[in-house]
Formats: sequence, C-alpha cells, structure tokens
Amino acid sequence: MGEFQPYGAFRQKGEHLKGIFPLFKRVYLATLLCLVILLNACEVSVALDLKPNIVLMLADDLGIGDIGCYGNNTVRTPNIDQLAKEGVKLTQHIAAASLCTPSRAAFLTGRYPIRSGMASSSAYRALQWNAGSGGLPVNETSFAKVVRQQGYATGLVGKWHQGVNCESVNDHCHHPLNHGFDYFYGMPFTLLNNCQDNKPPELDAAFQAKLWFYTQVIALAVLTLLTGKITGLVSVTWKAAMCFSLFGLLFFASWFSSYGFVKYWNCILMRNNNITEQPMKLERSAYLILQEAVSFIQRKKHGPFLLFVSFLHVHTPLFTTERFLGKSRHGIYGDNVEEMDWLVGQIVDAIDKEGLRNNTLIYFASDHGGQLEAQEGRIQLGGWNGIYKGGKGMGGWEGGIRVPGIFRWPGILPANTVVHEPTSLMDIYPTVAHLAGGAVPQDRIIDGKNLLPLLQQNIKHSEHEFMFHYCGSYLHAVRWHQKDSGALWKAHYVTPVFHPKGAGACYGKGICPCFGEGVTHHDPPLLFDLSRDPSEAMPLSSDTEPVFHAVLKRIEKAVGEHRGTLASVPQQLSLYNIMWKPWLQPCCGTFPFCWCDKEDGSVHSL
Ligand SMILES: *[C@@H]1O[C@H](CO)[C@@H](O)[C@H](O)[C@H]1NC(C)=O
Ligand SMILES: *[C@@H]1O[C@H](CO)[C@@H](O)[C@H](O)[C@H]1NC(C)=O
Ligand SMILES: *[C@@H]1O[C@H](CO)[C@@H](O)[C@H](O)[C@H]1NC(C)=O
Repeated sequence: MGEFQPYGAFRQKGEHLKGIFPLFKRVYLATLLCLVILLNACEVSVALDLKPNIVLMLADDLGIGDIGCYGNNTVRTPNIDQLAKEGVKLTQHIAAASLCTPSRAAFLTGRYPIRSGMASSSAYRALQWNAGSGGLPVNETSFAKVVRQQGYATGLVGKWHQGVNCESVNDHCHHPLNHGFDYFYGMPFTLLNNCQDNKPPELDAAFQAKLWFYTQVIALAVLTLLTGKITGLVSVTWKAAMCFSLFGLLFFASWFSSYGFVKYWNCILMRNNNITEQPMKLERSAYLILQEAVSFIQRKKHGPFLLFVSFLHVHTPLFTTERFLGKSRHGIYGDNVEEMDWLVGQIVDAIDKEGLRNNTLIYFASDHGGQLEAQEGRIQLGGWNGIYKGGKGMGGWEGGIRVPGIFRWPGILPANTVVHEPTSLMDIYPTVAHLAGGAVPQDRIIDGKNLLPLLQQNIKHSEHEFMFHYCGSYLHAVRWHQKDSGALWKAHYVTPVFHPKGAGACYGKGICPCFGEGVTHHDPPLLFDLSRDPSEAMPLSSDTEPVFHAVLKRIEKAVGEHRGTLASVPQQLSLYNIMWKPWLQPCCGTFPFCWCDKEDGSVHSL
C-alpha cells in the first residue's frame, strides 16, 4: 500500500518550510492541496489496480437487533462491533427478500429474485430438498464468476441453498462449482431442526401431511390394481402393473423420507463435488467451517481471492459448542449468536495475521431478519429485529428485510463511520465486480449499485431511489428515498394478517404467507415516512400528510416502470421443481442407503 504513504511525506516537508515568507508558503500549500485532490481523484483507480481480497460473511436469520453495534447491550458481539469501529456501518441495508433462497439468489446475482425465477408464487418460497430440480439458473452470472474472470481465486464455505442438480444425480448444474466458485466446502442445503436428533421436525408439516395423504391414496390404488391383475378382473400388462407399483413405492419412499430420512437427504456436507458427511455431525461443523475458511485464506494469501463465508449460524436448531453453551443472557439463541461472533473474530484474525489487513475488503451482513415465530414453548429461538416491525418471511415490514451491513477496509474506507442511506445486499455484486476490475453483465438488468463512492463518502446520497419489497413473486411494498427532501416514504400494498396474540408475527404458521386468506390488501396503500417513523407504527393519511396523494402517485408510476422491466422466466420454485426426486438425491453410498463420514471421525471442538 505504498501508494498511500505520500500524504505523510508531504506533511513532513511542510514542517520544514515554517518561517519562510508567507506568499511562498501559500503557493506551496495550494500546490499541495491540488496534489492531494488529484491523488484523491486517483484513489479509486489506484484501489482498482490493487484488486483487494474480498471476504464476504453472511449470517443466516440474524436480526439487526442482535448485535452490539446496532444497539443490543446484552448480547456480546465484540468482534462484529470491532469491524464497525474500524469501518463503515450501514443502518439501512436492505435484503431483496425475507427468506433464504430468494435473498441469497439476489445477493449472488445483484438482481431481484423475480428476474431469475427464484421468487415463488406458491407457498413454497425456498428450496425444500437437496433432491429438488430448482435452483440458481445456469445462465445467471454470480459475482464469483465475474471476479474469477479477473484472476481471483473464489471460495464458498458454508451454506448454499441454491439447488444442486437439474436432471441427473451428478449434473451439479446449480452447484457452487458451476456458479463461479473454484472451491466449495459446506452444506448444499441449509440447516434445519431435522439435522439434530431430538428436535421436532421443521420441514413443512402441511407438506408432510399432504404427502402422507397421497401416499395412502396411491398405496390403495396399487393394491387394487395388483389384486385386480392377479384375480384377472383388471386387464393391464404385467409391465404396466409393475411400473405403477414402482411409482407407488417411490412415493412411499418420499413420504418416509419426509420424516426419518430428512436428515440423511438434506443434512449433508460436501467438499467440491464430493459428499464428506451424510448425515453431517453438528458437533463439529462450526469447527470445520472455521478451519476451511482460515485454510482458504492461508492457501490463497498471495491473492487476489474472494471468500464467501456463508455461516450456518444462527439458523435453528442452534447447535452450539460447549465453549459457548449457556454463556449468553439470551438462552440457546444468544449462545449461538455469540459463537458466530467468535467465528467472525477468528476469520478476521486470520486475515490480519497473514498481513492482508490493508488489502482486504471485509463485509458482514445477514440474509434477512430474525424469525419471530421460531419458539419452543416460551423460549425465543429466532432473532430480534430491534425497533423494526415484523421479521423473516414478511415481504414488506422492515424487520424482515433491514439487516446489519458492515464494511472494513483500512486505509480506503473511513473508520467508525455510519451511513444512513438506503443500500441493498444486491449492491455487493457491482461493488466487487468494480473492485476486481471487471464489468457487470450488460445483457441483463442489474439492480444493485456500486457502493464504493458512498462507503468512501465521496457522494452523500445512495443511488437507490426506489426499492421494491417482494414477498415471493408478489410486490408487497415500495420504498421511495426522496433525495432532495430526505423523506423516506414506504407504501404497503399488501401486509400479512398477524396472529391475534399480537407482537407482529404469524405464530403457528412458521412464517407469514404472501397471498390468499392470510394477507390484507390496502387501497389506498398504507403509507409511512420511515425517516420520522422507522417502526412503521403510524400510517399517514391525506389529513395528516399534505403530499399523501402525490407521493402515492409517484410511487405508483415507479411500480409501473419497474413492472415494465420484468420478463417471464422459468420458475425455479414451481411445485415440480421443489419436489423431492429420488433420482436427484445426492447420495454417498448406494441409494437409498446413503451414509458416509469422510472426516477422520473424531469430534473437534472450538
Ligand atoms: C438483544 O438480543 C436478544 C436476543 O435476540 C433480545 O432478546 C434482546 O431483546 C436484545 N436487546 C436489545 C436491547 O435489543
Ligand atoms: C495498514 O495501513 C495503515 C495506515 O492506513 C498503517 O498504519 C499500517 O501499518 C498498515 N498495516 C499493514 C499490515 O500494512
Ligand atoms: C436464462 O434462460 C431463460 C430461459 O431460456 C431466459 O428466460 C432468461 O432470460 C435467461 N436469463 C439470462 C440472464 O440470460
């Protein structure tokens, strides 16, 4: 980073000139000022030549109110707080969706999930199985692909949840290695309660009940058919009868799998294209994730590299190692948050120890808000979204989409700085593309904006004027950041119907629905000014807000323009695509007996 030393050198020269007559001094200072301005103007392009390493850390289901530097004074997150102290903290960092699969698709592509077909119009808004056929489309270009073309080594450690196969068991069409990552270690799926014994199963109870019903119907049909065939009452060929029976058997297997076998089907770890643990052992996964992240940094330190650490924390079942268990003041959830913070600290330490501190951009965020409905009895197992209404799964309310966002890059980004402008997780895409010296694809719409000028404080306002808040494929709300007045309008067209128990959640449903009986349509829309009412507590009306109608009209126009940019694309989360398909099941061993443990078998602890 020698390029940035000259400032200090100039200042020292200035000292020697004390006492020389004032005109000379003024000319000298003016020249100096020009030089500094010139150097400042060059700063971005100097940074570009540097191709910094990029380490992106994304937490799972972490709420904005769970972190010290966002106002939590009882959960201990010293390592994340330290990043904010040494860098830039965003207070209005917005996820493109309030659920894992679509939010991460948007993060990886810089595009609203509706553009890639990752926004669902049904009740299934996230991938349900490793053995589904949906996932991040092959023709989407992730940021990993863009920076790899610029010579970056690219690694993903942790959660993927963007699909695995399309048509056959090892085509790995949706796999990270087919989306620009050179190295992958982690879960192709996501953590869920089924991954831990003795936890109540989490995977969609209604879905399981339906499967059970169809299984019974098909079993009855198979039995009738076979009886008919044997007694000669039904005339079909044996081949047809066998085919039908086989189909019935597979269906039974799929039902069975939704109970006891979910753990074997979904809770697996892979290294590149190979399964290393099926099912995974939760006791050691935090250790393995950390070890993999650190070893990637050490292997690639001669850079440039991009490492995406996609934590399995703090998703249920909240498995926490002994070192942190029972240590926080917020039960098992708080323990898990504190364990994750420690992992963040270890990764940052590894970067600093390798001498990469000044040429590594570090980013920390969460994929969406905490899940209010995650409870076991009276114990809260989901995150806390601070003063913001709602949480995970809700399309419009701030609690579902406003997440922590922190950047650190000493020497390039100012320290201890807070930015209140609206920004998006989709902004990471053009930002890292720019830093790597690459360009974003020109043949499609990219919704993210390069954040560097805002982070460096070279501009005051973010380039986001309108943001569209979707719930699945349904537009629920729109935010309008009016640059001149500083007003921050938000109009809600649809909101979920909360549980009568209140507290702004859909208890008993897992998450709130996006459409149908469980939502309310608003005409005129509910309008808030977030700059005055960040908790969205008092909807405005034409009586209380003189520009009420004008604001709604302007937002309506923006929605029309936005809709005009949407094209119809294949639906990745259609019922057919999310279905469990035995022929796509990643399997270590001989299907259906999938089991292996290729780690050395020992249990490591942190
Ligand atoms: C801190 O986080 C915990 C755990 O989510 C939560 O219960 C608590 O209310 C939060 N405290 C504050 C002051 O935000
Ligand atoms: C990083 O840059 C700062 C100044 O911005 C300097 O004081 C420090 O020595 C540098 N550290 C390394 C490891 O290069
Ligand atoms: C990817 O392919 C689908 C199906 O052909 C198409 O609709 C979509 O526009 C393509 N996406 C991109 C980014 O090219």
